[in-house]
Formats: sequence, structure tokens, C-alpha cells
Amino acid sequence: MSNRLVAYFSATGTTRAAAHHLAEAAGADIKELTPTEPYRDADLNWTDRSSRCVREHEDVSIRPQIADVPDVSGYDVVFVGYPLWWDKAPNIIRTFLEGQDFSGKTVVTFATSSTSTEGATGDHLHDSCSASTRWLTGRRIAAHDSAATLATWINDLGL
Ligand SMILES: Cc1cc2nc3c(=O)[nH]c(=O)nc-3n(C[C@H](O)[C@H](O)[C@H](O)COP(=O)(O)O)c2cc1C
Repeated sequence: MSNRLVAYFSATGTTRAAAHHLAEAAGADIKELTPTEPYRDADLNWTDRSSRCVREHEDVSIRPQIADVPDVSGYDVVFVGYPLWWDKAPNIIRTFLEGQDFSGKTVVTFATSSTSTEGATGDHLHDSCSASTRWLTGRRIAAHDSAATLATWINDLGL
């Protein structure tokens, strides 16, 4: 078991692919954050004002449940990955962060998106963890980023 974990949510597979590349480059274990209630296509329709993703975006207190929450207690570094939804992490990421004790751990976010980069840094998520969590600046990654690109980023983080 590594002391690094990649934990990610992916609705349509892009973040899943990126997470696997990152885990390989970082020598990390990997766990998917699977929603108890999976997102169907209609749930992801951001043009429908009554769709699930829009409701969750508009009500920041909603915490979608995770089917099998990975235990982070044995890890020093946790990479947390997600697709950007309106330049932010989907609320399920807050479910994960708020359900575990990240005190003293290093958390680094990564995100996939169509084009956005804002929100990948993870700055907006800091209030979901205790003050003693060490946050490093996350970034957008693409499923096609080379192993060398990911290795350079991980090295620059100075973990
Ligand atoms: C509800 C919703 C909101 C999105 N908002 C953005 C956005 O603000 N900026 C962007 O570049 N892409 C946005 N996207 C596109 C996703 O971030 C992108 O397709 C992502 O790579 C999907 O990852 P996944 O396949 O792991 O779910 C959005 C997608 C959805 C479903």
C-alpha cells in the first residue's frame, strides 16, 4: 500500500482515465467515489433547469451519498479528482472531504473539463476540511497528458 491515494469522481469516464494516469505517475493507490445513485444522462443535462446537476449546483448544501467511501486514514497524501461543473467540484466531493478526517494530510485536487481551469485548484473546497489540512494547488489535467507532464507536476508539488 502506498502512502498516496488518488480518489476521484467521474460521471462520464474522462476523470476516471485521467485519475488512472495520475495514480500510475504518482505511485498511488486509486479509489473511485461511486455515487449511491448513479448520474444518468438526464441528470447531467445542464440546460434543463430541473435536472439533478442543476439542483445540486443551486443548492450547495446537497451532499450526494457515496456507495463505498474509501478510508483515507492510512494515507499522507490524497489526490482528489473531479469533473468541473460550472467551474467547481460537484457536491459529492464535499461529501467525501467532510466525511473523513484530513487533519495533517496533504490534499491536492485535479480536475478535467471541456476548457475551464478555474476550480481545478481546489481553493473553493478548503472549507470542507479542517484547518490543519495541508492544501497544495491543484490543476486541470487531460486524459491525454503525457506521463512526463504528470511526473513534472508531481515533482514540482514537492510532496
Ligand atoms: C453539469 C456539467 C457542468 C459542466 N461545467 C463545465 C464547466 O463549467 N467548464 C468546462 O470546461 N466543462 C464543464 N463541463 C464538462 C466536464 O467538466 C467535462 O466533460 C469533464 O471532463 C467530464 O468528466 P467525467 O467524464 O469524468 O464526468 C460540465 C459538464 C457537466 C455534466
